[in-house]
Amino acid sequence: MKANPWITGMLAVTACTGCMHQKASAPALKAKATGTAIVVVSGDKQLGGIGARLSQPLVLQVNDDQGNAVTGAKVDLTGPRGVVLDPAEVLTDDNGQATIKVTLSGIPGRYEVTASSQDAHGKPFTLSVAEFAAGYQQEVGYEVNEKYCSRCHNPDSTVEQVSNYDNLAVKPHAFTSGDIYNKLSESDLSNIIEHGGPAMNRSALMPPYEWTLNKAEIQAMIAYIRLVSDPPYMAPGVVYGKH
Ligand code: HEC
Repeated sequence: MKANPWITGMLAVTACTGCMHQKASAPALKAKATGTAIVVVSGDKQLGGIGARLSQPLVLQVNDDQGNAVTGAKVDLTGPRGVVLDPAEVLTDDNGQATIKVTLSGIPGRYEVTASSQDAHGKPFTLSVAEFAAGYQQEVGYEVNEKYCSRCHNPDSTVEQVSNYDNLAVKPHAFTSGDIYNKLSESDLSNIIEHGGPAMNRSALMPPYEWTLNKAEIQAMIAYIRLVSDPPYMAPGVVYGKH
């Protein structure tokens, strides 16, 4: 017997309700509670390979107006094209937290992930965090930083590396300091990295790297600095779309 085309059509329509946003089987989550603010617990500003999942999940927390964590608040996540957020909607757990796996797009750059929720009156509140997708050049820069620079430029000590920052009489800036680094041109940056602080009338505590790093590694380091800078670096002469 031939299937009745009308019934087949109907079934297809029913099965596809909600296909636009998610699998038909997953009904939209309903908030059990509401908060007034979203804060980052961990996992923002990570650097990951292009197209790869970030090593740490993004952990967010919904708080009420007293600053207490709210369990059962609904958080919706959106990101630019190519960024996969898993899950894209979630209820906060017993600690008031939502844990999201983030996979970055295949194009190097800075990606903003926006989390939104609603208060008791249905008024939305949001939080945006940045994650960074590193292409080959930025990955090389990241390695250079880890090996040579971060012990002075990063004030925080890690298990692998004790920071030298506190011992320095003149303090360098973290490479994320966009307010400092965005004002330095490519040639300023390569000049100070190659020839050290005195080349730019700065402290000799910033050593020269011309005998340690080749041109490609210095370019890679600059690409890394441009990638992680906050506020973001806007290359001169490039027109950026407004959000
Ligand atoms: C031994 C510590 C030390 C190391 C290692 C080091 N720096 Fe620095 N760096 C400094 C200090 C101190 C300054 C600040 C100099 C000043 O303002 O007079 C500085 C300044 C800079 C500046 C100018 C912007 C700023 O932060 O004030 C750049 C760019 C820079 N360093 C890049 C690098 C790079 C790239 C590396 C690794 C290849 C590196 N540094 C490694 C100590 C260090």
